[in-house]
Amino acid sequence: MATNLFEQFIVGNPYFAAGGGLMLLGTSLALARQGIIRASGFAYRQLLVDLEIPSKDKSYLWFLEWMSQYKNRSSRHLSVETNFIQHDNGAVTTKFSLVPGPGNHLIKYKGAYMLIKRERSGKLIDMTNGAPFETVTLTTLYRDRGLFSDLLGEAKTLALKAQEGKTVIYTSWGPEWRPFGQPKRKRMIGSVILDDGIKEGIVSDVLDFLKSGKWYFDRGIPYRRGYLLYGPPGSGKTSFIQALAGELDYNICILNLSEANLTDDRLNHLMNHIPERSILLLEDIDAAFNMRDQTDASGFKSGVTFSGLLNALDGVASSEETITFMTTNHPEKLDPAILRPGRVDYRVYVGDATPHQIEQMFLRFYEGETAKAKEFVAKAVELKAPISTAQLQGLFVYKKNDPDGALALVDTLKTPNHVF
Ligand SMILES: Nc1ncnc2c1ncn2[C@@H]1O[C@H](COP(=O)(O)OP(=O)(O)O)[C@@H](O)[C@H]1O
Ligand SMILES: [Mg+2]
Repeated sequence: MATNLFEQFIVGNPYFAAGGGLMLLGTSLALARQGIIRASGFAYRQLLVDLEIPSKDKSYLWFLEWMSQYKNRSSRHLSVETNFIQHDNGAVTTKFSLVPGPGNHLIKYKGAYMLIKRERSGKLIDMTNGAPFETVTLTTLYRDRGLFSDLLGEAKTLALKAQEGKTVIYTSWGPEWRPFGQPKRKRMIGSVILDDGIKEGIVSDVLDFLKSGKWYFDRGIPYRRGYLLYGPPGSGKTSFIQALAGELDYNICILNLSEANLTDDRLNHLMNHIPERSILLLEDIDAAFNMRDQTDASGFKSGVTFSGLLNALDGVASSEETITFMTTNHPEKLDPAILRPGRVDYRVYVGDATPHQIEQMFLRFYEGETAKAKEFVAKAVELKAPISTAQLQGLFVYKKNDPDGALALVDTLKTPNHVF
């Protein structure tokens, strides 16, 4: 009787019935909503792929640069990256790249849509450069995932094209190598004029060395080769090595052993951490043979010692090839111990200009003037003074496009440091 009354009251009551219906509707809607969220999460995981590029990765900057040049995109927030170069003469070049700023961007790449999300982490800081830590996430359909590698490949090619035809020059910065300024245009090897056969000899030796990796590994010999160029200053030693690096498509790491704050430890560390595909150039190695007291006023010992140099040369252990070039203006100061194979395997004298070089230099500056070149050589030889190729360059640069002017000034070559 009581239940009957209750049923009547609840079921028969229109207000209660409506409330129940609403509740049921609400619950089912909520359930459906969750279901959609779950399903979309599931679909997301099944149908979409993400690619995350953290800012410490090499391809991060490549990607941003690529994106800044990519036409097919819709993004309203850009951020600027300014490339500011001050030249030696004080002039300044600036280049603005408008790269995608933090936020979401949509691009269409090879027919596929990609969502690009650039995020900045508020807290994390990249310790190497103090910049906030960032990531770029690329999202696309699962079936288009192959496009990621196409895209990154394109970005890389674009970045490397900017370096193409250039030589990166590294110098030491504390214990590490840092690029010195912008990559330089390659110097043509033909622009360095050495005596007959010298260039060809070195080039063929290096090429042969680069081909012989297996031979070295099979015999358990460290895969390295040392070259020594010695001779008076201004004869083109440094220029030749830079041109050679360009020719081989190598970069170059330059270390001057006469640098005051270079210690044995630093030398050793630097020589064992050479960037890939680089030639190591040790300038003025005679500095390590100075018998002078190397303790400075503050009592700190500075400068590289002879044994430090030998240790560093012997200790270079790299899985890759190591090409070391050494230069000196004072071969007489060298200790024979450095000339041992494995330290110096190839040595060549690069001297003052020979008549052949004088003629070649003249013709390089004044194309086709063969008769005048012969006349110039005769006059220069008559001076009976050593003439460096650097001196010749000085005169020819002073008399650009004026072979007769150069002929008239041939006497100035008598004084090595003549100022025009
Ligand atoms: N043989 C050469 N051929 C072309 N240029 C040369 C030559 N020798 C010297 N020079 C020029 O003289 C300058 C100094 O040369 P550098 O290579 O520094 O000489 P080194 O290292 O022998 O002292 C450079 O500007 C270079 O272009
Ligand atoms: Mg030099």
